[in-house]
This record gives sequence, structure tokens and C-alpha cells, in this order.
Amino acid sequence: MAHKSMDKIMALAKRRGFIYQASEIYGGLNGFWDYGPLGAQLKKNLRDAWWEDVVLNPCGGTPGPNGEPVRVVPLDTSIIQHPKVWEASGHVAGFSDPMVDCRESKQRYRYDHVRVFVPASGESGGKPLFAYVPDTASEARQRKKAEKTFGEVTSVALSGIAREGWARVIAPDADKPGSLTEPRAFNLMFKTYVGATATEDDVAYLRPETAQGIFVQFKNVLDTTRVKLPFGIAQTGKAFRNEVTPRNFTFRSREFEQMELEFFCHPGEAAAWYTFWRDQRMQWWRSLGLSGESLQLREHERDELAHYAREGAGTSDVEYRFPFTAPDYGELEGIAHRTDFDLAQHQRHGKATLEYFDPERGELLPNGAHRGERYLPHVIEPSAGLDRGVLAVLCEAYTEDPARASPELLLLSPRLAPIKAAIFPLVNKDGLPELSERLYADVRRRLWRLGFIEYDAKQAIGKRYARMDEAGCPFCITIDGQSLSDQTVTVRDRDTAQQQRIAIASVGSYLEERLAPR
Ligand code: GAP
Repeated sequence: MAHKSMDKIMALAKRRGFIYQASEIYGGLNGFWDYGPLGAQLKKNLRDAWWEDVVLNPCGGTPGPNGEPVRVVPLDTSIIQHPKVWEASGHVAGFSDPMVDCRESKQRYRYDHVRVFVPASGESGGKPLFAYVPDTASEARQRKKAEKTFGEVTSVALSGIAREGWARVIAPDADKPGSLTEPRAFNLMFKTYVGATATEDDVAYLRPETAQGIFVQFKNVLDTTRVKLPFGIAQTGKAFRNEVTPRNFTFRSREFEQMELEFFCHPGEAAAWYTFWRDQRMQWWRSLGLSGESLQLREHERDELAHYAREGAGTSDVEYRFPFTAPDYGELEGIAHRTDFDLAQHQRHGKATLEYFDPERGELLPNGAHRGERYLPHVIEPSAGLDRGVLAVLCEAYTEDPARASPELLLLSPRLAPIKAAIFPLVNKDGLPELSERLYADVRRRLWRLGFIEYDAKQAIGKRYARMDEAGCPFCITIDGQSLSDQTVTVRDRDTAQQQRIAIASVGSYLEERLAPR
């Protein structure tokens, strides 16, 4: 993949109204982003694609490993849950990153992000060492100083420097050595207060994941619907994490949206469902245009696994090679076998039985029926980030082509593109606007549910094509002089810039066919 510039992608995203900095007129707020008109629709299209392919028609009808259609029901739970939910889930005690503070600059850094330039020879002779955070301004600044001090340098993780040696380390944004504190845990959950008194008894948290709302309502879903195991519960929604170092555009934000499925099954079938979902999810991202070598599936090493996943069938990530991670990859979605960890925890803390009674299992009785089996289901969790998905889709779509009137364009998949089609009269006279407006009204009436249909009669036709290419619109339809005599129009394909003539009457079905999910 040719290298893509993140600065150019961010500039286009801003210029065309995909993504803005939140509270920009107040100087912005680090870790928060807003979606503009095209971005809001692109994000909705990605969320809808997930909803269609996970909830309404799971896996496009592919049967599960049991040979039956995959069953999934939706849910929409509160952002604020009872604080005990987060004690049971382990987030109060464990959801933290070790941090180091700089006493001089008052900056705070993630301990595992800080690296240090040391002499390549290994002999520092008691001189200061230079800490930095990769991909920030501190990297070049500290490298320069380190090279001046030692000549050739190499870099090691801060954790690789013995604690006695920290007195000689100059922090990334400091001038004097020895200003870094011991690493300290920093809980990532946003705290708030419920009710007017705002005492410590009223503390609550904004959810750091949507998953726990699903586990907490598992019993209600079982008791009030006719679902039977194996089945999944899905929800999309905001999650909040007070990330210490939000960065890389929307990749690590403090407010973001997740699309999570908790799939409940018998413990004996968990390994097969894990493999099934892992492969299905990888295929799904591919179907949206994230293809080739930019997308990979990475199985976690055993020592990377969360405590609850160690006993399970595995955890893997669907990863995308973002311009800022290249040549490495960044996580888009994690697929984990969470065993019965969450249900067991909520059963213990919530004092409710969350076991499932399965009448079709257990010992066979003489009358041919089963005695039934009572068990805590295991869970396979495909958990995807919607904002990261949008970012990956934008990065993948971003293309430079100096030969075009639009040297930058977005090759978005037609299913995700916010503008589905644009209709142009070649010139704004001679009866062309009237015919174009009629076609525009027809196409809108037929296709408005799929996304925006644009009408543009201004400027030279090349400029209008360029504007649409840059916004990722897959089809431009132009009405010209010939249209008046033979009732045909040209359809220009964004990807090839090729045009073909088709009958005006067939424009609606032409577009419908190409905009449908594949
Ligand atoms: N329930 C499991 C869970 O929350 P996770 O790996 O912490 O797992 C799932 O999060 C997905 O949420 C990630 O793969 C990523 O796409 C997205 N995500 C996590 N933290 C994020 C952040 N700070 N900003 C944007 N997206 C994030």
C-alpha cells in the first residue's frame, strides 16, 4: 500500500464535513470529536450495516456451527448503570493504565508509551538519558539532544531502565533530569454523581463498554422472549474512557461508540462458535472494502490474554494498518471467548441466578426425553469500535490521483458512501434543468432511504465531478443535449471515471442494483 498522509486525510475530513474537532471554537477538547453532515451519515451507514448483518440477517444467512440459522436479538441499555455493575465486572479495581507524572512540566504519560534514548555503545558515563513519547514532538527534540551528548543512540522502553537510573532520565517535556514519578494506576472510568447531593455515596460511572449492560439484562431477555441457546444479544452505543493519551485522530478517543455482540452458548460449543465469529467478523470488514494486506486477523499470544480469557478458546483482533500505525496494525475489533466470567461475577454480586436451563440436554430418560441441564452459558464476544471503523474506512478510501481534476478522492464502498448519487444538468439552460430536476425528484423518491442524493447545476462539469469524487459519491448522472432527444443520460463511475449512456427510465434500478449490500 502506498503511504497515505494522515494530515491530508484529516484535512479532507474537515474540509468536506466528515469530522470536526469537538468544541473547536473554544480551542477543542482533547479526545473528543464531532461528525459533520457527511461524517454523521457515513457513521450511520456503518452502524446500519453492522445492525443488518449482525441483528437482522446475521452473517447473511450463513448457518452457525450447529447447522442452524444464527439467532441474535437487540438491546439498548443505559450509559449509567448501578455502580456495583463495575465492581462485579472488574472495572473499578482493574480498569487502569499505569502512569508516570512529570513534576517539572506537569505532564502525565502512559508508562508503557515512554521510551528513552540511550547511547548505542551502552556507556552513558553518568550523563543524562533522554525520554520521549514516539510520534510526538518530543521524539525529534530529545533525539537531537541525545545525539549531541552521545553520538549514536538507540532507544529502550522506560520500563527497561532500572529505577535507580530514573534520576538521570530527562522527561519528554522537561529540561532537568529526575522529574518522573513512580508509575501509578489511573482509573479510566469517568465518574459522575447521581442525584442532587453529590456525596461519595452517589458516585456512578459512565460505561466504559456497552457489554456489561447486556450481561446484566441477560435474565430478563431470556424470561421475556422465546430465545433459546445458542443466541446472541447485540447493542450499539456510546462508551467513555478517560484515556490518558488520546491520539491519532479518532483512533483513541475519550468518547466513542461500540458495536458489541455477546453470543451465549453451551460451554462445550464455545470453541466452535469462537472460530465461527472470528472468521465471520473478519469477512464482514472485508466486505466493506477493507481488503488486501491492510487488514489482518491476529490471534493473541497466551500472555496477552485478559484473566478471564486464559481458560477460553482464544482471543483475536481484526486489525487495520492505519497510516499512523504502519508498518504495524491497530485494533478495529476484538473477538474474545469470555467463558462464563461475566455471568458468574454478576450472579455472585447481584445475588440472582443467571443459569440457563436447557431442556434438550442432560441424561436421556427411558421415555426418550431429556432430564435437562442447568449451566452458566459461555460467551463469545465480537466487540467493534464504530469510530475506529469509520476511520479505517476513510483511510482505506483516501486515494491520490494527480491525473484527475480531484487529485484527492474517496473510494468508499457504495453501501457506506454518504452521498449515493449526484444529478447534474450539463448546462443550466436549454431545458436541461427541467429534465434534471424531474429525474432528481424521481431518484430521491425512490432512493432517499439509502443516503443523500445531490443536485448540482453550478460550475464547470469537471469541477462538479471533482467535488463528488472527493466526497466519495460513487455515481454522477449528467443530463446533456442528447438526453432531450433520446431520453438517455450519462452515468459516470467514480472509480474508473468512465461514462456510459443509459435510459433515463432505468436510472433508479441501475442505482438500486449497485447500492444494495453485497
Ligand atoms: N467489551 C470488550 C471491550 O470493550 P475493547 O477491546 O476494550 O473491548 C472494543 O474495546 C473496541 O472498542 C476496540 O476494538 C476499539 O475498536 C474500540 N475502542 C476501545 N477503546 C477506544 C477508544 N479509546 N477510542 C476509540 N475506540 C475505542
